[in-house]
Order: sequence, then C-alpha cells, then structure tokens
Amino acid sequence: APQPITVTVTGAGGQIGYAALFRIASGAMFGADQPVALRLLEIPQGVKGAEGAALELIDGAFPLLASIDISTTPDEGFAGTNVALLVGSRPRTAGMERADLLAANGAIFGPQGRAINEHAADDVRVLVVGNPANTNALIAQRNAPDVPAERFTALTRLDHNRAVGLLAERAGARVADISGVTIWGNHSTTQYPDLSHATISGRAALDVVGETWGRGAYIERVANRGAEIIEVRGGSSVASAANAAIDHVRDWALGTGEAWTSVSLPSTGAYGIPEGLIASVPAHAVDGGWRVVEGLEIDAFSRAKIDASVAELAAERDQVAAMGLIPAE
Ligand code: NAI
Repeated sequence: APQPITVTVTGAGGQIGYAALFRIASGAMFGADQPVALRLLEIPQGVKGAEGAALELIDGAFPLLASIDISTTPDEGFAGTNVALLVGSRPRTAGMERADLLAANGAIFGPQGRAINEHAADDVRVLVVGNPANTNALIAQRNAPDVPAERFTALTRLDHNRAVGLLAERAGARVADISGVTIWGNHSTTQYPDLSHATISGRAALDVVGETWGRGAYIERVANRGAEIIEVRGGSSVASAANAAIDHVRDWALGTGEAWTSVSLPSTGAYGIPEGLIASVPAHAVDGGWRVVEGLEIDAFSRAKIDASVAELAAERDQVAAMGLIPAE
C-alpha cells in the first residue's frame, strides 16, 4: 500500500470535525487504496471532543486509518502534514463587531499559518473552513511566506454544492446532468451564484429555469441557505459542510477532469479580481493544482455582482492589514 497521507483537522472536537473524520478515515477523501494518518488539533476546551472522536474512530476499525494523534499546539499538529483542514475558528456571534471578529481570528490563523510554514510537509495543501473563511485563509497564507500561495484555499464548495442542488431541485433534473455553475467572491451573503454558463443536459440553465428566478430568488436562496438550515434544523450546516470539504480536497488531489467547480484561491488577477485576494472562482483541478477556468464572458449583471462581493473581500483584507494581522506587502 502507498505511504499514508497525513491530514490535520483543526477544531476536530467540534461538529464539522465529527462529521468529517469518519468519512476521511473511510477513504472518501483519497479513494479506497490510500491510507490516511489523522492529526486532530484542538484547543484545551475542545480536546475532550477530539478524544471522544478518536475513541470512536478506533471503534470504526477503518482499514485505511494508519494512525490518530491529538495535539493542542499548532507546531505539533501540523508537523509533516500533507493536508490541513482549518475548521476551528471564532465565528461571528450576535452583537460582535467585525474588528473583534477579525482580531480573534487573526490570533488563530496567524500562528497556524506560521506553524504550517515551519513544520508542514513540502507539498502541504490547506483548506480553510472556519469563518470568515476567505479572510482567515488570507491571514494564514500571508503568514506562511515559504509555502506557494496557491496551496491556500477557502471553502466555497458548500455554496457551490448548494447552488447545484437547488438548481437540480427547481428544474426537476439530476445533479449529474448539471455543469458550469460558479460561485464568485466571498463565502458570505454577498457571494454570486452564477448560472450564466451553466447547462442542464446541455441546455442553458437560465433558459430552463428562467432569468427572473435564476438571477433573482435563486441567488438569494443560495446565499442565505446557511440561515435557512439554522432556522429549519435548529443548528448550523454540519454534515453538508464536512461533505463539501471532502469534495474540495478530493477534487484537488484526484482532479476534476472536464468539469469545473468553485474554489476560493489567491487571485492572480483573472476576471478583474485584485491579485492576492482569496476569492471564489470557477476552477478545474489538474495534476494536484487548481486552474482557473479561462475566457468566460462576464456580462454587466455578473460584473456588478462579482465586483460587490470582491469589494467586501478587499475591505476585509484592508482591515486585517491595518490591524497588523498580515505582514505588509
Ligand atoms: P464547532 O463550534 O462545533 O467546532 C469548532 C471547534 O473548533 C471547537 O471544538 C473548538 O474548540 C475548536 N477550535 C477553536 N479554536 C481553535 C484553534 N485555535 N485551534 C484548534 N481548534 C480550535 O463549530 P463547527 O460547526 O464545527 O463549525 C466550525 C467552523 O466552520 C465555524 O467557523 C463555522 O462558521 C464554519 N463553517 C464554514 C462553512 C463554509 O462553507 N465555509 C460552512 C459551515 C460552517
């Protein structure tokens, strides 16, 4: 069998960790022939949750699970890691100022970025799930100057999967018949789920579902799906978030082929997104790297939507830069 791939999951004692670990151990991330070594990184308050999950992982008797280690320091947690899922964060709570939110996360993702820079494997790939995911990813990336920037990504795959799932539901189509959906911008309510290039069984999606819905209520529904889940379920998205994180890493490792998906990655300036911002774009995964889909026509409606979400990301970047949470360029 090949050497195990080491996967570090931060916030492993939390809800998304609990939903993700068992599927990673079962082979959902790298396929049925690839062993994995799990590193669970927690803070002291969360370590019991990680220990409990580790006991249950043993009880899963997963043939592909080579080892389980628990730690509470980033230096240990990221030592030799190939894939880092940064799930633990300080999400916004009611009444919290944005500056406080960004400062609290700077205190998490700055040190984690530095630990990844110093201790992770040369081929490390990072996916930030913890919110505000795009800006947390930017903080980590900018604190890891020796790691190629494009190895840092943030999760907009859940938004992408929501966009595909809701389109399939509306059209009475199968997910497998849908392609060309894109999430642009920030993992926030300003995101732009774009059907301009989407097809359903080869037909233009906007013709099938109509522009009024596809460029109206649909966008609102996808962007606010997290709130809808909280209202109906009485708790935030957990299993679908874990599922999306696994989809993201699996595609990154194994490739997407012709299809494209949505990934937040450091901009190289494509589609007018300022260089360096970690923004969601359509991308293929090829040979272990992401390639932004080139040459898509962006009409005036899409342009305005993309620009608005990117402006929000630029404002967050300026704020964390002003707070000294990312080094000056
Ligand atoms: P949770 O509160 O159940 O678990 C978070 C865990 O992270 C806790 O066990 C906590 O002890 C741990 N943690 C906090 N700071 C840490 C640190 N510095 N190092 C290591 N561990 C740390 O939350 P849940 O439901 O698992 O969600 C996790 C994050 O994912 C939240 O920020 C949430 O907003 C975000 N999220 C992002 C989505 C996306 O699409 N990007 C979708 C759904 C959730």
